[in-house]
Amino acid sequence: MIVQLRRLVHHYRRGAGTVPVLEELELDLERGDYLAVMGTSGCGKSTLLHILGCLLRPSGGSYRFDGEEVGGLPERELARLRSRRIAHIFQMFYLLPQLDVVHNVALPFLYRDDLDEEQARSRVDQAIDRVGLGHRRSHRPAELSGGEMQRTAIARALAAGPDLILADEPTGNLDERSSGEILALLGEMNDDGHTIVMVTHDRHVAACAGRRVSLRHGKLCHD
Ligand SMILES: Nc1ncnc2c1ncn2[C@@H]1O[C@H](COP(=O)(O)OP(=O)(O)O)[C@@H](O)[C@H]1O
Ligand SMILES: [Mg+2]
Repeated sequence: MIVQLRRLVHHYRRGAGTVPVLEELELDLERGDYLAVMGTSGCGKSTLLHILGCLLRPSGGSYRFDGEEVGGLPERELARLRSRRIAHIFQMFYLLPQLDVVHNVALPFLYRDDLDEEQARSRVDQAIDRVGLGHRRSHRPAELSGGEMQRTAIARALAAGPDLILADEPTGNLDERSSGEILALLGEMNDDGHTIVMVTHDRHVAACAGRRVSLRHGKLCHD
């Protein structure tokens, strides 16, 4: 089991009050799963991904990643998890505009001391080829299409060699054709054995995943 959430609660603190979002949510994720989490805007999908990605500590409950309770880990260990084992793909791509494809994909390696330069370079090259951007290596984001920007972000995620890939509305900013290409690529990555959690408000997008659940009233429900 790569992810196990038990009675997970998240309430944002805001001024004197709180904004309740996740309420005793449960989730089991096996290696190789491809899960789509659907739900209306504001239901807590991004909050859930931020917690899974160890970007946000939940207010309560248990999160076990690969058998280890994340809540008990010091910040240094969380940073290690984030840089080596979990990768994010976002709707807005989050590429650095001044860097070309190669350097955007290589960026996460700045935070790693476990790979030498040669190993890092070979991972970057493989990931760029894997997403079909070999001919765009020296392009900056402004010189790429939306679909190519998202491919770059996927290559950046892949290069890290993560155990878990988290995708937050990955096709939200793309036209139909580019969306189809990105979804096909995510499907191939899952066929290669990658574990993926994708959140989306779009049923057609969710249909591409092997498992589907909806986030409603702070809990995951099977449709
Ligand atoms: N940092 C925050 N502080 C307070 N409330 C927040 C914060 N981030 C999100 N929220 C609220 O929590 C709810 C869930 O947000 P979010 O997880 O972004 O939803 P979704 O991704 O499903 O659209 C929303 O009502 C939102 O307004
Ligand atoms: Mg969101």
